[in-house]
Amino acid sequence: MARSVIIATGSYLPARVVTNDVLAEKVDTSDAWIRERTGIITRHLAAENETTSDMALAAARRALTAAGLDAQAIDGIVVATSTPDTTMPSVASKLQSALGSRGGPALDVVAACTGFVAALSVAHGWLETGLARNVLVIGAESMSRIIDWNDRTTCILFGDGAGAVILARKEDESRRGILALQLESDGALGTILGTSGGVSTTQTAGFLFMEGQEVFRHGVEKMSSVTRAAVAKAGLALSDVTWVVAHQANARMIIAIARQLKLPPERFIVTLDRHANTSAASIPLALDAAARDGRIAPGDILALPALGAGLTWGCCVICW
Ligand code: COA
Repeated sequence: MARSVIIATGSYLPARVVTNDVLAEKVDTSDAWIRERTGIITRHLAAENETTSDMALAAARRALTAAGLDAQAIDGIVVATSTPDTTMPSVASKLQSALGSRGGPALDVVAACTGFVAALSVAHGWLETGLARNVLVIGAESMSRIIDWNDRTTCILFGDGAGAVILARKEDESRRGILALQLESDGALGTILGTSGGVSTTQTAGFLFMEGQEVFRHGVEKMSSVTRAAVAKAGLALSDVTWVVAHQANARMIIAIARQLKLPPERFIVTLDRHANTSAASIPLALDAAARDGRIAPGDILALPALGAGLTWGCCVICW
């Protein structure tokens, strides 16, 4: 039976680490408030000349090294990002050129913080239809470029970075690989989280805005319900889930989701204390951290729920 299997992970975080205290020098906030309300302690921010495709490339190279694969073996690239280098070509196309791989599809997926789960669904389709055999799936974001650094309600929440996986078609008897995918959205909720600009309106990227409490409420409700739906689709019970690698937005949100799902919070991988919210990069960054430190082991069942602007939300269930 053919399956879509994550054979390697990689990630990249910019060198510059910014503490809450540094932000408190610029806006009216404090380390204590940020830690208590969000769980965030530090975030990485891209250097002035560092782009989303630079970060994607570094993460991709690490995943290729971990897989022991040459870039020529990659025959598909899908990048989840809302903060591309240019409107066109896509980050995926730039990455293909930088890696020196040729042929096969390369494109970006825009689904905000749900982007990585959406990108997995695209890559899974390519593998199932025989369009590709080894797909680089990446979440990469320069959130710092769309943040209003004078707005204390949003600037404390976000960070930059990239995470990559190689999703490969494998034919074996084991059940490892993607077991289920669930993607949902409600465009009518587009007004509670977004940017104030865009190409066809202001000809700028705009700044991120959100109604924090509303986003929080939908985040808990929808990431919980979509996890339940995806796990049931995989023919599993929530108690079968070894690790929940949820979108990293807020530690209180993760605890509330754990409560909704009646799962111990210890089963949730948490990296937002050091990475903050890196949008589409947050899940692959957390996956790479937990795979490399040995927490995630072969045979583990993973649930990857996310919610982002759109609103969009989804969950992928994987046997590692
Ligand atoms: N530092 C200090 N005080 C702040 C602050 C900051 N950085 N940001 C807001 N405040 C103030 C508010 O002005 C408010 O003051 P008031 O009571 O005098 O009006 C008070 O703190 C409480 O604000 P509130 O918005 O109720 O806080 P909260 O507990 O809801 O936390 C968020 C705010 C943004 C941390 C929280 O709503 C959240 O995480 N939402 C989800 C955000 C998210 O994840 N978005 C992306 C999803 S993909």
